[in-house]
Amino acid sequence: MDLHRIDEFAKEMIFEAGKRIRDAFSYELKVETKSDANDLVTNIDRETELFFIEKINAFAPHHKIIGEEGMGEKVESLDGPVWIIDPIDGTMNFVKQHRHFMITIGFFVNGIGKLGYIFDVMREDLFYAIADEGAWYNDSPLRKLKPIDIKEAVIGINASWVTPNRRVNHEKIIDLVKTVRGTRSYGSAAMEIAFVVSGKLDAYLSMRLSPWDIGGGIIIAKEVGAVATNFQGEKFDLLSTDTFIIANPSIHPLILEQYIEEK
Ligand code: IPD
Ligand code: CA
Ligand code: CA
Ligand code: CA
Repeated sequence: MDLHRIDEFAKEMIFEAGKRIRDAFSYELKVETKSDANDLVTNIDRETELFFIEKINAFAPHHKIIGEEGMGEKVESLDGPVWIIDPIDGTMNFVKQHRHFMITIGFFVNGIGKLGYIFDVMREDLFYAIADEGAWYNDSPLRKLKPIDIKEAVIGINASWVTPNRRVNHEKIIDLVKTVRGTRSYGSAAMEIAFVVSGKLDAYLSMRLSPWDIGGGIIIAKEVGAVATNFQGEKFDLLSTDTFIIANPSIHPLILEQYIEEK
């Protein structure tokens, strides 16, 4: 398999999709809700996913595709070449702020990450990786993460997790928030992962994410030495939802051991 040829194809497809999304602001977005009132989807999420599916089907008809909006066929195993796609990660930002939303895509072969992309659509910034070759931010190589002390860490976390919730002991999360230097919450898991792999954040955690939120990101993570797991410290389940933490390797075990207590 010629990964460089697939990488070239993927980038071209992502840049073209990005342009289509930016152009879409000149006509009306149709916003709907999915599982609840805060779970938004637009015609552009669906159209962009369809655009990717059509492109990939033309390029390599036997490749499988998992997309958030379910516009493709149902995929039940990670055997063979599989694309995992979030056409717009941060739909609420897309609708409300017209910025801070990403296209993110992972390309896997038999469950092993090969190519990962996180594209900031409005900034036209691309974070990407080719397995075992490295990771880049646009044309600049991303360096291996340097060790950091937890007290100097800046972490990405959603404010709702410091309030009582069904999943984790929020008192421990409050301890974490008090221990670190600062916290941020950007509203796009892929963006927060892009910031961890490029050292702008030192960790990002979420109690519940889907494969398309993190598929591209975990491939980039590996190339810079960031550790990405679920809260058990195991591989994220790419066919289901799971807990998720990505962190600088020097603080990943500490956060899991001292600050995460699942219910
Ligand atoms: C969401 C964003 C958000 C995260 C949610 C995701 P979407 O993705 O990544 O930051 O907290 O869990 O579902 O729906 O905007 O693609
Ligand atoms: Ca969504
Ligand atoms: Ca998402
Ligand atoms: Ca999405």
